[in-house]
Amino acid sequence: MTTVAENNVIHVMKQRSSIRKYQQGVDIPQETLNQILEAAATAPSAWNLQHWKFLTIQDPENKSRILPIAYNQQQVVDASAVIIVLGDTKANENAEIVYGETVRAGFMTEEVKNQIVSSIDSYYESNEHAGTHDAIRNAAFAAMQLMLAAKAHGIDSGPMGGYDAEALRKELNIPDRYIPVLMLTLGYAEQPAHQTNRFPLDQLVIRERF
Ligand SMILES: Cc1cc2nc3c(=O)[nH]c(=O)nc-3n(C[C@H](O)[C@H](O)[C@H](O)COP(=O)(O)O)c2cc1C
Repeated sequence: MTTVAENNVIHVMKQRSSIRKYQQGVDIPQETLNQILEAAATAPSAWNLQHWKFLTIQDPENKSRILPIAYNQQQVVDASAVIIVLGDTKANENAEIVYGETVRAGFMTEEVKNQIVSSIDSYYESNEHAGTHDAIRNAAFAAMQLMLAAKAHGIDSGPMGGYDAEALRKELNIPDRYIPVLMLTLGYAEQPAHQTNRFPLDQLVIRERF
């Protein structure tokens, strides 16, 4: 007998695969896309700074402009939508807003908020890689959730790292603050993904220590 978890989350995880051949000319309803993006944004993040933005591209002309930047990977044109998951290298600047809201809701005192905001700022100031590392690490969680949420809505996806990040930045006018962490294609599969395999647990798990 399968459990509720197996029916839902784990089933969706097992169903997801990287689609490269999409049905062309099919739109994802905006309401569905919004629900997927909202679900993606429930991802955890360090200090709840929510280091992600979703740059969504649905206009066929704009998708065509991405094609050479993505080294002519045809799925960026055929897919219903391309989502660039951006990582925020200055997510510490979100702290005031995020924790201000918590104070307004009565969950935290102003004093505690100020302490948290100041420790976040000093972490960012004292570690030159904090901004970049945290942007990538945290945005990746949102990207994964986005693909799973899409699959739960019957929409296929494909993660892509194969693109010229600087050319993408220029084309889409992405501010320096953001790193294009991943490109995701979303749509309806025309062909199933390639079969892939995974390492068995005995090659993945290190018990207690190396
Ligand atoms: C960070 C990252 C970058 C990837 N870049 C590409 C890419 O540029 N083009 C592509 O076709 N697939 C890309 N993939 C998809 C992988 O090839 C795929 O996830 C892997 O082969 C496992 O297959 P599955 O996702 O179907 O299980 C990428 C995946 C990840 C996580």
